Amino acid sequence: MKPDLHSRRPENSSLATRTAPLRTGAKKIFVKSYGCQMNAYDAARMADVLAPEGYAETADIEDADLIVLNTCHIREKAADKVFSELGKVRMLKEAREAVGLATTIAVAGCVAQAEGGEILRRQKAVDLVVGPQSYHRLPEMLRQAAFGPVIDTDFPVEDKFDHLAQPSDEKIRQRGVTAFLTVQEGCDKFCAFCVVPYTRGAENSRPARKVVAEAKRLAGAGVREITLLGQNVNAYHGEGENGDDWSLADLLARLAKVEGMARLRYMTSHPNDMRDDLIRAHAELPALMPFLHLPVQSGSDRILDAMNRRHSAADYLRLVERIRRARPDIALSSDFIVGFPGETERDFAATLELAREVNFASTFFFKYSSRPGTPGANLSDQVAEEVKSERLARLQDVVEPQRRAFNAALVGKTIEVLFEKPGRHPGQIAGKSPWLQPVQVDGPENWIGRVAAVEIVECSSNSLFGRLRNNLGPSGEGNRP
Ligand code: 5AD
Ligand code: SF4
Repeated sequence: MKPDLHSRRPENSSLATRTAPLRTGAKKIFVKSYGCQMNAYDAARMADVLAPEGYAETADIEDADLIVLNTCHIREKAADKVFSELGKVRMLKEAREAVGLATTIAVAGCVAQAEGGEILRRQKAVDLVVGPQSYHRLPEMLRQAAFGPVIDTDFPVEDKFDHLAQPSDEKIRQRGVTAFLTVQEGCDKFCAFCVVPYTRGAENSRPARKVVAEAKRLAGAGVREITLLGQNVNAYHGEGENGDDWSLADLLARLAKVEGMARLRYMTSHPNDMRDDLIRAHAELPALMPFLHLPVQSGSDRILDAMNRRHSAADYLRLVERIRRARPDIALSSDFIVGFPGETERDFAATLELAREVNFASTFFFKYSSRPGTPGANLSDQVAEEVKSERLARLQDVVEPQRRAFNAALVGKTIEVLFEKPGRHPGQIAGKSPWLQPVQVDGPENWIGRVAAVEIVECSSNSLFGRLRNNLGPSGEGNRP
C-alpha cells in the first residue's frame, strides 16, 4: 500500500511540542532494522551513540521518543516497506502528540542514502534522514532536528567508527554471546544488479588494531562468537597491527588469539576474493567455523558475465573444490538471483545444474528486482514476473532437499554447540551448531555462553534436537566471565 504522500502534521502540532528541548534522563529509542546483518550491527551502534545522550532502548515502539527505521534498499520490496511503515509511524506520532508527547522519526540506512530528501518530501512526519556513513553524527542531528528536518547522507572524510560510543559491558551482555563486528564496508565490484556500491560507497577496511580492540571488549563482556561483517568481507585489506597490509586471513588469525573467543565467522564474500591464505585459514584455524556464505548468483556464464561477476560457473566449482579440500566438513551457502534480464530457460537450467553439483547446506534465492541507478535497470529483455516466480519455485525444489539432507545427516552425530539463549520450553537451552543450525537441548541456563558436546537425536525442517554429552563435559573454554 502506498503511504499518504501529502500528509501534514495536524494543526495542533506546534513547533514547541515537536521541538521540546531534549529532556535529560529517561528518553527512549526504538530502532527497527531491515535487511542485512550489517544493518543489525549499525542499529546497535546507533543505540550506543545515543546512550550517552540519555536514550535507553525500548522494545515498545509506542513508548519511544525517538523511532529509527534502519532501512534496506537491496530489492524494491524492501524499499517499499519503508514507506508503508512510515505511514504507520506517522499515525503513532500523531497519537502521541495528542497526549502531549513528542516523537522524533529518523530514517537511517540504505534507503536514506539512496532517496535522501525525497523521503522528507514523501513523508512529512520524518524529522531526520541519516545515511549509513553518518550515524555517528546522530546526537548533533537530533539537536538540529528540534528546529526543522535534517538530512545527512554525506560520505564524510572522518571515520564514523572513531566517533561512536562503545557499548557498556552490561549492554554487550544483554545482546548475547554472539555478536557482529563490521571490519569492512562498501564495495568496488559493481555487480550489475546491486545498489550497494552506491549506498555504502567504496570499499573501506577498518584498521586491525581497532577491530581487535572491539573484539577484546566483546569477549571481555562474555561474547564467545564474532561474525566479521563486510559487504565484501573477504576483500578486507586493512592496516595490520604491525603496520603491514593485513588480509582477512591475517585478521582472523589474530582474532583467534583473543582470550575467550571460541568461534569466528565472516560474511559476505565474493568468489574472486577467496585468496589462498583465506582458504588455508579454514584448514588451520580451529576457531574459524566450517561454514561459508559464498554467493554465486547464477550458474550461467552468459548471465554471470551480464551481471559483471567476473568469474565463470567453472571457476566457482573449482573454488568450491579447493575450499572443500582444505576443510572437508565445510558447509556452503549461496545467494541466487533468478530472472536477471536476458535469463533464458537454458541459462536457468545451468543455475539448477550448478546448485545440484555444489550441494549447498543452505540457500537464499531472490527474484531479480530492478534497482534505479544500477546497470541492470537499463537492460532490455527484463524477465516476466510469472517466469521469475516459476523459476524460483524450481530452484527451491532443488536446494530445499539439499538443506534437509544436510540437517538429517547430523542425527546420531555428536557436535559442538555454542549455547546462546533459553530454549523454546522451560528447562531447555538453545544454541548453534558450527554450521549455523539452531540446536535445542534440555539443559541448565548457566550453560549459556559455553561450547559443549551435544549428541543430535532428531531434526525438524529447521532445527536440530540433542542431548548434552555430560560424560564429555563442556569442551568450550569455560564459562562466561
Ligand atoms: N534483485 C534481487 N536480488 C538482489 N540481490 C542484490 N541485489 C538484488 C536485486 N537487484 C541479492 C543478491 C545478493 C543478496 C544480498 O541480495 O543475491 O547476494
Ligand atoms: Fe553488490 Fe556485487 Fe558488491 Fe556483493 S559484490 S555488494 S552483490 S556489487
